[in-house]
Amino acid sequence: MTPAPRLEVQSLTRSFGGKPVVDGVSLTIAAGQVTCLLGPSGCGKSTTLRMIAGVELPDTGRILIDGAEVCGPSHITPPEARGIGMMFQDFALFPHLTVAQNVGFGLKGDRVSRAARVGELLERVNLTGYGDKHPHQLSGGEQQRVALARALAPRPRLMLMDEPFSGLDNRLRDGIRDTTLAVLKEEGAAVLLVTHEPDEALRMADEIALMRGGRIVQSGSPYHVYMKPADKAAAAFFSDINVIKGISRGALTPTPFGDFLTPGHADGAEVEIIIRPQHLKIDFDRAGRGPNPTPQDGTPARGRVRRARFLGRESLIEFEMDYDGSTLTAAVPGVFLPKAETPLWLMIRRDRCFVFPARRGLTDQ
Ligand SMILES: Nc1ncnc2c1ncn2[C@@H]1O[C@H](COP(=O)(O)OP(=O)(O)O)[C@@H](O)[C@H]1O
Ligand SMILES: [Mg+2]
Repeated sequence: MTPAPRLEVQSLTRSFGGKPVVDGVSLTIAAGQVTCLLGPSGCGKSTTLRMIAGVELPDTGRILIDGAEVCGPSHITPPEARGIGMMFQDFALFPHLTVAQNVGFGLKGDRVSRAARVGELLERVNLTGYGDKHPHQLSGGEQQRVALARALAPRPRLMLMDEPFSGLDNRLRDGIRDTTLAVLKEEGAAVLLVTHEPDEALRMADEIALMRGGRIVQSGSPYHVYMKPADKAAAAFFSDINVIKGISRGALTPTPFGDFLTPGHADGAEVEIIIRPQHLKIDFDRAGRGPNPTPQDGTPARGRVRRARFLGRESLIEFEMDYDGSTLTAAVPGVFLPKAETPLWLMIRRDRCFVFPARRGLTDQ
């Protein structure tokens, strides 16, 4: 028999003042797996996490840990008996306690075994030798690692983390994320990490659950969620997007970039072809001619550089397209900074674009 998932959440709902804030959220996490609950501010992530922790009660739904109900219609386990570790943005260490005392705070057992566990965790988070210091003597990143060690010390079955890195210096963050992930994996707890930053979710998650308006709109591996977004808003959450509108006829949609296959769209249906800036291909203008059409890239279309911005890792080039004056943005790695007015040809890789029905009356977001 396969073991029950470490965490199973079934149709959680919660309203505040008659307004649903969490609206039928279900998810499962296996032991050793990191799931990121990703979504814009106010979409209900923290409320979901607080219900799993037990500090907020759902209106309806069930929560099971290792197959046992900790929250349901007939039974509610108090937060401290759920075997959950928690870490929040404001990870508030106890200022009057030493690092070792902070880490050992929630530990039971005799002094020797507690000290051994504290030593083991301080080593894991690269803070061996810091045990006698006080929090104010540590940098933000070091304090964060102490908070991680403290949360993990009692060997929680499940770690809940709510934007745990957002208080940290940008430059430190990636390193601390990687250390944190390595430690979490070594400890083997299931992790639910809440974040509004797509880069963080892509970097940390085994699975991303994308949330919007109280619901999970898509879940899957980072690769899947990024490369096969469920809708336009899901695509737009991870990067800027370019939108090319068209009308599907006989499962084909003609555009200035050639025909796109649009199976499943009715004759006459308006569709939107979505392409991320880094998936536009750029080619030079050869006395008014561009590259030849190919099955993979379709027909090239010409535009003029409106402006190019150097962003370090990549350059962003904004084009005004010849065919209708609309704007497309391409991202290219490294230092390619064409001057304004330079004519260049753009192509759209057919295997990198997404086609969705145009949703009239809805704002582009
Ligand atoms: N205790 C509460 N009382 C009233 N409204 C709340 C309460 N907690 C959260 N909300 C509202 O629920 C919505 C979602 O909040 P939250 O779960 O914190 O979102 P997120 O963590 O995704 O930013 C927000 O509009 C917030 O104002
Ligand atoms: Mg929140």
